[in-house]
Amino acid sequence: MPSSATERTESRGDSTRKKIVVGVTGGIAAYKACQVIRDFTKRGADVTVVPTPNALHFVGSATFEALSGNPVTTSVFEHVDEVRHVELGQDADLVVIVPATADFISRLAHGRADDLLTATCLVATCPVVVAPAMHTEMWKNEAVQRNISLLREDGLCVIEPAIGRLTGPDSGAGRLPDPRQIVDLALARLDGVTFHRNLAGIRLLVSAGGTREDLDPVRFIGNRSSGKQGFALAEIAAQRGAQVTVVAAATDELPDPLTATMVHVRSAHQLKEAMEEYLPGMDVVIMAAAVADYRPANESDTKVKKGSKGEESLQTLSMVENPDILKELVAHHDHQIMVGFAAETGDESHTPLEHGLAKAKRKGCDFLMCNEVGRDKTFGADSNGGWLIAKDGTYQELPAASKYVVAGEILDAVAQLVPRHLQV
Ligand code: CTP
Repeated sequence: MPSSATERTESRGDSTRKKIVVGVTGGIAAYKACQVIRDFTKRGADVTVVPTPNALHFVGSATFEALSGNPVTTSVFEHVDEVRHVELGQDADLVVIVPATADFISRLAHGRADDLLTATCLVATCPVVVAPAMHTEMWKNEAVQRNISLLREDGLCVIEPAIGRLTGPDSGAGRLPDPRQIVDLALARLDGVTFHRNLAGIRLLVSAGGTREDLDPVRFIGNRSSGKQGFALAEIAAQRGAQVTVVAAATDELPDPLTATMVHVRSAHQLKEAMEEYLPGMDVVIMAAAVADYRPANESDTKVKKGSKGEESLQTLSMVENPDILKELVAHHDHQIMVGFAAETGDESHTPLEHGLAKAKRKGCDFLMCNEVGRDKTFGADSNGGWLIAKDGTYQELPAASKYVVAGEILDAVAQLVPRHLQV
């Protein structure tokens, strides 16, 4: 088990051919582990699956072997000559338990080594990520929560379960998150993002995605923002204990961040209203949304038809300026730590950083994350990079890395400004 001291074992970088042990335990969500295994292998990892004997009631070894391309061992008494648990634990760059049942969590929290998977976890010195899935009553049970706390104290990363439909007709907290979210968070951990609870008790508001300004019921003016950076900020902040509210404009059909309160909006105007409504109860506000600077002067209630009188309005768009939401929030904020973004292409006279530094002065927020953007750069991509500019104009370069790594670095900077009395 890794200790907090060994938490930051990996530096930035890719996960190519990293060795990942995927532990599968005996819950109905075991079938979702198949997608997690597939995604890890697609992203270049060398995956070895270690199912508990009970997991094999749900998914067979043949499936795990086919998906991972590696043999599956389930018992310490198989391949005894190879001492599998020691070999697997020592070689792993990352261990991910998906799904983790209440029983497995209890055994792991208490240092048991009564099957191959727990024994492997005890040997592993790499980061261990645990994705619990169980019924709401079990998840909320005090003994289970006590065990979860023990795992976190020991430096393991526990992914908060999602709220939603469970095995039966009921729904609640305890659902295994979307496999893509598990993979993203686990790879973030592999890339060195820590999930220490330094934002516990902090109320964080983040806007994400791109606003859409309607011309008529079928047409709109939008932008290339995918929402990935805003959602990554929400995910990492929630993992670090923050209570997160996300105001989401259009996103690329991304799954909602886990455990965040979601407010879905469309236009810049709606985004402004939502941000203003939630601002007073917050400690940190991050404007990651790409907001339209202009909207059509007139919106038609019916489709503008070719050859109709209104056609002219589409040929020559008349636009009016939208408010600068961030600037207004900064003007009216109270104690909140304010963070903005700058999407810059640079031009013949100024570099993206120069534009970013000027924008930081104009916006007046505590931090401005300046990104270089382009048709295929940053917008929609899984990676990001740039300069995190502080209020006094000093800046820190953030080399290109996954949006989760960048989120972790922005939140590290934010955490340093959070007054101690707000943290629990
Ligand atoms: N923003 C905002 N309201 C707007 C436009 C932008 O709140 N009407 C916020 C964005 O969410 C981001 C920051 O301001 O946090 C900078 O956005 P960006 O699009 O980079 O810059 P603009 O303010 O639009 O300035 P310019 O068009 O000159 O680059």
